[in-house]
Amino acid sequence: MWLGFLCLLALLDLHSAALSTTPRYFPTSYLSRSPTSISNWSSSSAESQSVSNFTGSVDDRGTCQCSVILPDTTFPVERVERLEITAQTISKKFEKELSKIRNMTLLVEKLETLDKNNVLNIRRQILALKNKLKECETSKLEDPARPPPPAPGSCTHGGVVNVSKPAIVQLNWLGFSYKYGAWGRDYSPQLPGKGLYWVAPLNTNGRTLQNYRLYNTLDDLLLYRYNQDYYISYGQGSGIAVYNNNMYVNWYNTRNIARVNLATNRVEVTQTLPQAAYNNRFSYANVGWQDIDLAVDENGLWVIYATEASTGNIVISKLNDTTLAVLNTWHTKQYKPSVSNAFMVCGVLYATRTLSTRAEEIFYYFDTNTGQEGRLAIVMQKVQETLQSINYHPYEQKLFVYNDGYLLNYDLFFQPQ
Ligand SMILES: *[C@@H]1O[C@H](CO)[C@@H](O)[C@H](O)[C@H]1NC(C)=O
Ligand SMILES: *[C@@H]1O[C@H](CO)[C@@H](O)[C@H](O)[C@H]1NC(C)=O
Ligand SMILES: *[C@@H]1O[C@H](CO)[C@@H](O)[C@H](O)[C@H]1NC(C)=O
Ligand SMILES: *[C@@H]1O[C@H](CO)[C@@H](O)[C@H](O)[C@H]1NC(C)=O
Ligand SMILES: *[C@@H]1O[C@H](CO)[C@@H](O)[C@H](O)[C@H]1NC(C)=O
Repeated sequence: MWLGFLCLLALLDLHSAALSTTPRYFPTSYLSRSPTSISNWSSSSAESQSVSNFTGSVDDRGTCQCSVILPDTTFPVERVERLEITAQTISKKFEKELSKIRNMTLLVEKLETLDKNNVLNIRRQILALKNKLKECETSKLEDPARPPPPAPGSCTHGGVVNVSKPAIVQLNWLGFSYKYGAWGRDYSPQLPGKGLYWVAPLNTNGRTLQNYRLYNTLDDLLLYRYNQDYYISYGQGSGIAVYNNNMYVNWYNTRNIARVNLATNRVEVTQTLPQAAYNNRFSYANVGWQDIDLAVDENGLWVIYATEASTGNIVISKLNDTTLAVLNTWHTKQYKPSVSNAFMVCGVLYATRTLSTRAEEIFYYFDTNTGQEGRLAIVMQKVQETLQSINYHPYEQKLFVYNDGYLLNYDLFFQPQ
């Protein structure tokens, strides 16, 4: 009985045996047991088993020899080792964190000793950086993936390479039965970003222009509010353009161009466009009464038309926007009635043709700067079947399109120079 007690004591000492280097006698069953049986930290059923078997005897010298047979996982010696290692690691980590905190404290102390001037200086620098950031943000509201667009009103680019999807601004104020017309924004090089917005639906005959409307801001236009309504008799066709607070339009039943002062709604000048065909002789494809199409770009006022001498091919003339005198003329090889519309950008004429009920294509250009002409393939989506007019705004670098009564906007993308 007392032997058993001794052996039990020996067993209770096993813990320190496992962790110290003191040599002890261990039963072979303990030393040889499989390590996999304790590899599972969370299994606890074996752990609770008590000592299952032991034998004890006194040898000839009176020493107690005791052997204990332990079930496989009675004492979790490896777990204890792991615990010990974990404890050491944690302790090291703790030391490191503590050192970090000490270092930080040192840094804070150093910062605190910095003189006030330095702090003020840093504050000023931060303010300057913030302002720069603001500038960047306002100048880069466009998609940052694209190259920066050329400055508004400038021609430092290699021409139009693409257009955005259309933004549907609204239905014209007279409703969808007013399928012909034009709209846009006044442009003047002196006040490039200040122009008023104009909407000019033709009468439902698709020919005469009598009513037009002006808005000071795009918000007013969007809300149909604070509109100034005017009446003239009569313009003809949707080839209307506005430049420097003057509206230019082919005058009814003539080859004349009229300049209407928008400040007074008075026809200031009526000037004949020499040899111009008119009254549906060479209008655009699918659009009547637009033999004489006025256009505005960075360089001023242009007119796109055809003559008998040109056999219906497009003729481009630069006009004096005050007197409407022809300043210069270019002849193209593009037959006007086979294009659906046209506009000018930086002295380059761009012409569209119809691909389908939902798409147009900018397919042709003529560069008055070089006299070169050629093909393009830029698809323009549309919401209705026919584009009655396209007006370019040099400051916004947008197209203002009248599409069967709907007012659309497109952004232009340019080839970097
Ligand atoms: C550990 O034991 C638990 C509970 O007995 C079990 O669900 C788990 O699968 C075991 N994991 C391993 C790796 O043996
Ligand atoms: C005690 O050990 C003997 C011999 O190894 C074994 O036969 C017996 O089953 C063990 N008893 C218990 C309760 O494990
Ligand atoms: C704390 O600073 C001392 C001396 O500058 C450096 O040796 C140690 O790596 C630093 N500790 C930490 C956690 O950055
Ligand atoms: C042109 O623009 C349209 C609409 O944003 C886009 O889907 C298309 O991929 C562009 N084409 C090219 C060649 O960049
Ligand atoms: C247009 O004509 C007016 C009057 O002759 C002249 O003062 C003005 O400079 C001309 N403008 C251009 C761009 O030729």
